Amino acid sequence: MTITRWPNLMQEIKRVLKPGGIIEQHELDAIAHNAGPKFQNIQNYGNETSSTSEKQKQGFNYIGGRKFYDIVPYVLPADIEEDDRLHQQHFALKYICGGNYTAPIHDLIKPGSKILDLGCGPGQWTLEMAQEFPQADVYGIDINANFPTTIKPANSHFLVGNVTERLPWEDNYFDFIWIRYLFVGIMDADWQNLYHEVRRVLKPGGILEHHECDGLTVNPGPKFKKFLGHFEEAFISRDLSFRLACELSERMTMAGFEDQLEGGKIGEIWAANLKDGTFAMKPWLSKLTGLTDDEYDSVVQYIFDYEIFEYDDYHNHHMVWARKNQ
Ligand SMILES: C[S@@+](CC[C@H](N)C(=O)[O-])C[C@H]1O[C@@H](n2cnc3c(N)ncnc32)[C@H](O)[C@@H]1O
Repeated sequence: MTITRWPNLMQEIKRVLKPGGIIEQHELDAIAHNAGPKFQNIQNYGNETSSTSEKQKQGFNYIGGRKFYDIVPYVLPADIEEDDRLHQQHFALKYICGGNYTAPIHDLIKPGSKILDLGCGPGQWTLEMAQEFPQADVYGIDINANFPTTIKPANSHFLVGNVTERLPWEDNYFDFIWIRYLFVGIMDADWQNLYHEVRRVLKPGGILEHHECDGLTVNPGPKFKKFLGHFEEAFISRDLSFRLACELSERMTMAGFEDQLEGGKIGEIWAANLKDGTFAMKPWLSKLTGLTDDEYDSVVQYIFDYEIFEYDDYHNHHMVWARKNQ
């Protein structure tokens, strides 16, 4: 926890304690006595009171009390508060996507299979996959070592690494590779090489699943719209691709991936549902469109079998609930 938050925590503990109640706290002093020169060096990495030039040497910049990388263009901090946010984000995305993956991996993952989480962050996805597939080995790699190192399933493995460099595995090693929300850290020009590396370490028949958030917000109000403009400029200034999400399919094809399915099962069901709905309206709608029966069929087929995938069409689904109070 950051130094500035301790007084508030102590005040809160005092507030909820009964008069006469007791607080017991255990902490480890970060300083190891009698440390040799190598260990002393390691300890300095965690010492946030070191001078600015020392901090910069370690590859970080401290801005406004938050710790940022200055060796990679990653836009978000690399600290514990950010890990908390990433955990929340993981659970929100898992809920939205109905699980930890959409690819058909159940038949793919067998005893001894290997799974990789590229840019794993604090490692929640890696840990959950290790639990769900105890017969497989699940690896997480991130430039930030904020993942668990001791209390974790035995079949989960974490390592520190920059994923824009050669991946530290032999060819054809993994059955399933997962990437989520790396558009905030990988430069536009690095994606091609990254995909090639992913393809190299994937077994033939292996699957890459990649989720990204489109930087574009639909229907922003005037203030947010202006703010989003700044966001986009900031991404461009770091050579990051603000709208990478819309290009995943194209970029995967360029890297040689096949059999793509965008939107996963939900997207597939939704597209089929829209196609059926459009055919269901044909008896009256075809007259309005001025198309013959055959023309209507071929246009609808073209739209739902091809064009919606080419243009990444999507629908927003709005959910509202309300109560009758009297
Ligand atoms: C927004 S977080 C997403 C974390 C995780 N994939 C998830 O969905 O919860 C992006 C992660 O990418 C990592 N990252 C950024 N640039 C990287 C690089 N060049 N090599 C490895 N990891 C990187 C960051 O440290 C961070 O943990």
